[in-house]
Amino acid sequence: MSAQKKSYKIALMPGDGTGPEVIAEGVKVLKSLGQKTGLSFDWTPYDLGGERYKKTGDILPDSALTELRKADAIYLGAIGHPDVKPGILEKGLLLRLRFELDQYINLRPVKLYPNVDSPLKNKGPKEIDFVVVRENTGGIYTGMGGATMVGTQNEVATQVMCYSRPIVERCVRYAYEYTRRRNRKKMLTLVHKTNVLNYCGDLWFRTHKEVGDKDYKDIKQDYNHVDACTMWMVKNPEFYDVIVTENLFGDIITDLGAMIQGGMGIAAGGNINPEGISMFEPIGGSAPKYTGKNVINPLAAICAGGMMLENLGETEAAARLDKAVLRLLESGKVKSLSAGKMGMSTSEIGDWLASNI
Ligand code: IPM
Ligand code: MN
Repeated sequence: MSAQKKSYKIALMPGDGTGPEVIAEGVKVLKSLGQKTGLSFDWTPYDLGGERYKKTGDILPDSALTELRKADAIYLGAIGHPDVKPGILEKGLLLRLRFELDQYINLRPVKLYPNVDSPLKNKGPKEIDFVVVRENTGGIYTGMGGATMVGTQNEVATQVMCYSRPIVERCVRYAYEYTRRRNRKKMLTLVHKTNVLNYCGDLWFRTHKEVGDKDYKDIKQDYNHVDACTMWMVKNPEFYDVIVTENLFGDIITDLGAMIQGGMGIAAGGNINPEGISMFEPIGGSAPKYTGKNVINPLAAICAGGMMLENLGETEAAARLDKAVLRLLESGKVKSLSAGKMGMSTSEIGDWLASNI
């Protein structure tokens, strides 16, 4: 049931490159959906990103973080600027938000819509529809490690994959709950590399098994090595229901997932703190070369808006948004999901959805 006349405080972070264009279409569609379903949104824009950093040196001021903690959700475009050294904005803004707000789940559905060309042409919307639950605050992303003798012939560097039982367990539990709610094949596949990563792999493997045996007897347990998983995702994507995996493996397999669902143009994701403030984003980058041309595909950002509604508990409104995207793609109006080849402009897609939702 959707709560009537409910108002949500959404922090808008359009960010860099094509981020502002796709978020504008997302806001357009959500506003229209809101009028039709009795929801209202109170948008607060933040100009965080490459431009602000270049002008003022600010990446994520503490005052902004304090305000963001009071939002109901954050709607993010893209972070990454061609004139800013790689890593500065990614670490200082995107990863810092994920960590500070403890968004320990990165939820990335892989779903082929009708009329969308996937490289796996003989697989259709029935075969490609699964969800990756990526652990989002641990592993190699914690930044543990070090380097010595830097710049010398004998330079040594380490980057540590660091996981604790609680960090693994809360993610695995979320994934089991999600699998139960999704109510499809009721199968949770753990993806890791236990044949090589014997410490972390073993921790994940035992946690997946113990939590499943104890509290989720209705969910089938399954395990794949990550390399085999990339193979099955292409060969037999219909096998999967929900995948749970550690941070770096999740990063890698969800780029593959984005491709098999037709490309970054439609791949949405949520950085979720189930007990706190979550952040929703198209998972592609800021696409600087398309900036300002009204050619980028806003569907990923619009679908991320749908995930935001779902997460706020607005299940009906979220389903309505997804159905509108389905109808748009079924109509055949969108010729391709790639920027510049869509047969519609960025704003035309938003306009169509806003009036047909
Ligand atoms: C993603 C991105 C980020 C990540 C980068 C930009 C730090 O690739 O959201 O998947 O590795 O998590
Ligand atoms: Mn990535």
